Amino acid sequence: MPQQQPTQRKILVTSALPYANGPIHLGHLLEYIQTDIWSRFQNSRGNLCTFVCADDAHGTAIMLRAEQEGITPEELIDRVRIEHHEDFKNFHIHFDNYHSTHSEENRYFSELIYTRLRDAGHIARRDIEQMFDPEKGIFLADRFIKGTCPECKADDQYGDNCEKCSATYSPTELINPRSAISGATPVLKTSEHYFFKLPDFQQFLAEWTQDGRLQDEVANKLKEWFSIDLQEWDISRDAPYFGFEIPDALGKYFYVWLDAPIGYLASFKNLCDQRDDLNFDDYWKPDSTAEVYHFIGKDIVYFHALFWPAMLQGANFRTPNSVYCHGFVTVNGAKMSKSRGTFIKARTYLDHLNPEHLRYYFAAKLTSRVDDLDLNFEDFVFRVNSDLVGKLVNIASRCAGFVKKGGGVLSKMSEPALYQRFVDAGESIAADYERREFGRAMRQIMELADEANTWINDQAPWVVAKQEDQAAQVQGICSTGINLFRVLMVYLTPVLPAMSKTTADFLKVDSMDWQSRIQPLEDHAIETFKPMMQRVDDKQIEALLEASREDVAKELALQAGTEEAAQEDGPLQKEPIAAEINFDDFMKVDLRIAKIIKCEAVPKANKLLKLTLDLGGETRTVFSGIKSAYKPEELEGKLTVMVANLAPRQMKFGLSEGMVLAAGDGSEIYILEPHEGAQPGMRVV
Ligand code: 2FM
Ligand code: ZN
Repeated sequence: MPQQQPTQRKILVTSALPYANGPIHLGHLLEYIQTDIWSRFQNSRGNLCTFVCADDAHGTAIMLRAEQEGITPEELIDRVRIEHHEDFKNFHIHFDNYHSTHSEENRYFSELIYTRLRDAGHIARRDIEQMFDPEKGIFLADRFIKGTCPECKADDQYGDNCEKCSATYSPTELINPRSAISGATPVLKTSEHYFFKLPDFQQFLAEWTQDGRLQDEVANKLKEWFSIDLQEWDISRDAPYFGFEIPDALGKYFYVWLDAPIGYLASFKNLCDQRDDLNFDDYWKPDSTAEVYHFIGKDIVYFHALFWPAMLQGANFRTPNSVYCHGFVTVNGAKMSKSRGTFIKARTYLDHLNPEHLRYYFAAKLTSRVDDLDLNFEDFVFRVNSDLVGKLVNIASRCAGFVKKGGGVLSKMSEPALYQRFVDAGESIAADYERREFGRAMRQIMELADEANTWINDQAPWVVAKQEDQAAQVQGICSTGINLFRVLMVYLTPVLPAMSKTTADFLKVDSMDWQSRIQPLEDHAIETFKPMMQRVDDKQIEALLEASREDVAKELALQAGTEEAAQEDGPLQKEPIAAEINFDDFMKVDLRIAKIIKCEAVPKANKLLKLTLDLGGETRTVFSGIKSAYKPEELEGKLTVMVANLAPRQMKFGLSEGMVLAAGDGSEIYILEPHEGAQPGMRVV
């Protein structure tokens, strides 16, 4: 009887859309890798799984960042999109579509959802009073206001809470408030805002969040939020704002978080318009039988499990089957830290390490829960070398040489029962993948790899090969070994797509799909084996951490030298004392006494002074972010300390040939001055 084909599931998955003003880092990658593995697994099983994403391109942070760089927001988001795309491609993240929230499709769906909600009575309008930057002419979100904490009087605290004493307050309560953008004193100003009436969906959400679709931890968290009444959500922002104007409200824009999740629809629609086999309504009409899952981090549950399903429900779209939430990445047991060099950008990782090592490491530690995931580099080196190189690749490399010597054709296997056991294990491994228990799946696969290696050891083809007339036996053993390797690589294909491709080329097979493992390769010619994966060594890790520290130093130098803008998703944290360095490292920095012979303000730069420095005969120009602290003429004639061997840096305003040392705590800054007697050009030791 022919086997009945299981029905093909239609699945749409998404990862959260990264902001279009910064690089992809390891924290982001956990999610893209998790989603990509799950999506590849579904397709390997014969389902039609579509993975879409986009850049999250709107909002104040992006508008200010573009201004800071002297380019338009469109230019900024175009550039960042290319960078993101390159990072994702190099990590083998396979999106079926990567779009932008600044797109016509997104404008269309944002307007459609808004007007449907409005017409159904779910939008309210009322005046609110907000802090306004009179110099810059923009309303200030709490994050963009700084001042003295009303409770503990700590200076330099944000408009919504104090980092020193944890007090929460409204920005109007701050003492000496100032705009983090221009430094101006904000004033209160009234403006009409638009609100999404989330409480209208109280009953719907109470059921939707508790009907078993969400992870237990997430459902419980939501229950807590439900114990306090749901609040209306402010979905409008006043001009100037980089986003979509609200159709019936000139000068008002959709808040970035309103159109961000709608970007999932927009990206999918953009894909449907290019593909005959995908129909938008099949996936998004209210009674759709397609499955939709959003992979997200634990910090954005509120948006995805409350606002988003309510918006969809209110606008007559289907809601997601689930929201799959993961924890944060920690590095060596601690939050990613710029000073420890553990704030690692995707690009910097790629400069030093193999992307599939990280894919495997994350897979080996991922569960279906919301727990944080620690990237411990000692463990990373151990697992990659032991599992991937020592166990997995070893199976193929031990057997391939004998097959080659015997003519390069796989023969009948000597142990078909063992092969069958490996094939049968596929259902249990698939169940773990399906439940996003990737760590368990990896453990099962590595147990099989151990078994294969033990079996090869016991068979000892290298001993049999020395015996006379045993060539067929050697081929049978090694053909079994290679077939076992193939099954394991089928199981690992969602995690290691590049190595899977190398394996397919080596084995001369067209498919590495789940089902392909059923039939062993016998009487089948293969290619010569080439090393498939290099071991990782500690030096690479050290180089990666060092390069990440340099990334931070470059970023800080750039911020000091250009106009720093606060980020909507939080500014840099104050850093603890930097990691220890040795004496040789310190001696690399050539510190010299310099005399400030000329000092000028830089037009159009809020923070920069242009210094002309005498280094004892040599003259240098340095741009320094100390304008807030000094009048230019105050500094002329003073001695200070400079880093004389810093590579020159081209800035918007000219070439900066070094750096002047200054002490600061983020709000105040003081240049360093030597004791009397020091002369320009003297080395600081
Ligand atoms: O938190 C973030 O990085 C957001 N850019 C995520 C948006 S996800 C979705 F809603 F678009
Ligand atoms: Zn305080």
